[in-house]
Amino acid sequence: MGNFTNYKIIERGEGWVELCFDQPDSKANVFTEAALKELDAVTSELSQRKDIKGLVVTSAKSDIFIAGADINLIKGLNTLEEAFQGCSAGQQAIHRFSKLPFEKVAAISGACLGGGFELSLACNKRVTSDAKSVKIGLPEVMLGILPGFGGSVRLPRLVPLPTALDMILTGKQVDGVRAYKMGMVDAYLPQQDFNVRALAWAKANAGKPTRRVHTFMNKLMESAILRPVIFSQARKQVMKQSKGKYPAPLKILDLLADIHGLDLEEALRREAKAFSVVAVTPISKRLIELFQLSESVKKTNGVGPEVKARKVERAGVLGAGVMGGGIAWAFANKDIPVRMKDLNWDAVGLGLQQAGENFGFQLKKKRMTKNQFMGKMGQISGTLDFQGFKTLDVVVEAVVENMDVKKKVLQEYENYVSDSCIFASNTSSLSITEMQSVAKRPENVAGFHFFNPVSRMPLIEVIAGQKSSPETVATLFELAKKLGKTPIVVKDGPGFLVNRLLLPYMNEAMFVLCEGVSVERIDKVMLDFGMPMGPMRLVDEVGIDVGAKVAKILNNAFGARAEASPLSDVVVKSGRLGKKNGKGFYLYENGKQLGVDDSIVNLIPNRSNRAANLTDGELVQRMIYPMINEAALALQEGVVKTPGEVDLGMIMGTGFPPFRGGLLRFADSESPQRVVDALEKFSQAGAGERLRPNNALKEFARRGSFY
Ligand SMILES: NC(=O)c1ccc[n+]([C@@H]2O[C@H](COP(=O)([O-])OP(=O)(O)OC[C@H]3O[C@@H](n4cnc5c(N)ncnc54)[C@H](O)[C@@H]3O)[C@@H](O)[C@H]2O)c1
Repeated sequence: MGNFTNYKIIERGEGWVELCFDQPDSKANVFTEAALKELDAVTSELSQRKDIKGLVVTSAKSDIFIAGADINLIKGLNTLEEAFQGCSAGQQAIHRFSKLPFEKVAAISGACLGGGFELSLACNKRVTSDAKSVKIGLPEVMLGILPGFGGSVRLPRLVPLPTALDMILTGKQVDGVRAYKMGMVDAYLPQQDFNVRALAWAKANAGKPTRRVHTFMNKLMESAILRPVIFSQARKQVMKQSKGKYPAPLKILDLLADIHGLDLEEALRREAKAFSVVAVTPISKRLIELFQLSESVKKTNGVGPEVKARKVERAGVLGAGVMGGGIAWAFANKDIPVRMKDLNWDAVGLGLQQAGENFGFQLKKKRMTKNQFMGKMGQISGTLDFQGFKTLDVVVEAVVENMDVKKKVLQEYENYVSDSCIFASNTSSLSITEMQSVAKRPENVAGFHFFNPVSRMPLIEVIAGQKSSPETVATLFELAKKLGKTPIVVKDGPGFLVNRLLLPYMNEAMFVLCEGVSVERIDKVMLDFGMPMGPMRLVDEVGIDVGAKVAKILNNAFGARAEASPLSDVVVKSGRLGKKNGKGFYLYENGKQLGVDDSIVNLIPNRSNRAANLTDGELVQRMIYPMINEAALALQEGVVKTPGEVDLGMIMGTGFPPFRGGLLRFADSESPQRVVDALEKFSQAGAGERLRPNNALKEFARRGSFY
């Protein structure tokens, strides 16, 4: 038998062998170029053996079966030819393996993603387990590509078309039970002694047909009449979600329609061709960089390897409002018991209700059972005093946004908790350093800024005040990851990072409105740019009063460059607070948007027509470039350390379009000098100090890029 670096062939008796993937010096199994080449060598060797009746593919890694293809391989593909050849090489290695003349069963325990799932699909059968680590999926679309190792061809041949489309178009990852229900695996076994069970199962079921969940309805949907309907629905859904900005899902739809009924070899050739077209797009490169950025966060603790984060096993939340209820949900969702304190039982009840609604949504979507729902809700307990706080590791403060109240709450809290308990403030604008000034143990105080709604927004800013200890920051950073969020460490300062950059955008939209551009056009231009919501809608969502308050805080802190639009105060005075009271730049009924409130133009102070003739491109510059200007300063001041953190923050915290790679990737694609020139022009045309390019931006322009 040959000796392989990445694989072990282990004899299992009665003509069965185990092919165990065990990449050396790595926590994960990944299809590198070498691992794929070696798979070919393994296939050649196994094909020589006449004694083999069956084979089980296993992994030697505890939580990972195969995590997918090496992402740097994909990132390095630059020409169509290179991408086609690269894709075909991997695809064919798996295809040749699939043709080995005996039963092959993938024993999936742990993450089985992308190329890993594609290898499994090339086996005759798949078994998986109830391990929490099992995640099965084809996430390629999130990287702007499509499954190119046979997954786009084989999955639709295994499961009903709607299931295959759902998996490939959304990149979703499912656990073992769901994979079984969806028909993607043949059996679902206990994790205990999984490999032994998988082998026994494989032997017992050898030669039996592959399991299929094609019901009568499914068969009907596969019919020539219904297939086009399914594709057209899927296309509508894609256009609704991505507005056609992402080429990969559209290419996937074309490919799946194109290869239906073709012989396998031809279908695989077309898959590789379609892969090559999307793999070389700049959008794919940006999505890959973004993925690598968020993966790199997972490998750090936000401070440094010399600092050890403390364990967080019990948590508390002060204030059971909009944010408090959501934060309690986030803890309970990860099985961290949480005490939630407010001033009266009605408020506690509202917090519980808020958390319950989030779990209710998961229940409705069948992502949890009733028992699990009860178990999760049981993790949250309410209180009006500090009973039970002595054993807590972290308490998140989410009371009203008022420094005096927060200081009082902090001082009171310190009497009831252990000396090591961390006070994590969810403030969106108040100084952490100032809060620390009244604390007995300021080293345990830091910011922990969630975004609204907590259940959907992936970012948490971990704010280090002047006296926050590195251990406190590292503990909150690790906690954010445990909650399933993406943390960035941010220096204390007005608006921290995300609000500091977002405010100039919303503020500028209001100036543009005062200069003769309609609410509809402003929002449309920014939606077309790729923002998830137009800025005027966003102001309504945030609350016009809340936005005005934060704008004033930034204006006081930064002076003329953060000049606040006079419009918001006038609009608030007229009784329009935004969506929450049904009246803002738009009108709402029961939370549903009815259309723009036309009377709002009559409120505009110093109305002019100055911006009315700007092109759509210039309007984008007017609203996006001020964010870039401010980001340059924030970087220079060390609010965050790298342009990557700015981009991660803006994408995860505001929904800045991922296909643009983030605010500063976008700035680089425009060229920072172009940003300087345009801002100079706007500044001279009337905006003055507010849009003047700052020296930090000019320095980046001299260097040529942010990255
Ligand atoms: N709403 C948002 O979009 C958002 C986003 C990020 C951060 N934040 C921040 O989160 C914090 C809370 O905001 P919210 O929108 O949830 O406010 P909210 O008004 O909905 O809730 C505040 C809760 O705190 C309670 N409270 C007041 N004093 C208390 C005390 N001494 N002890 C215990 N509870 C007390 C109130 O009864 C209320 O239930 C603020 O600092 C805010 O700036 C809000």
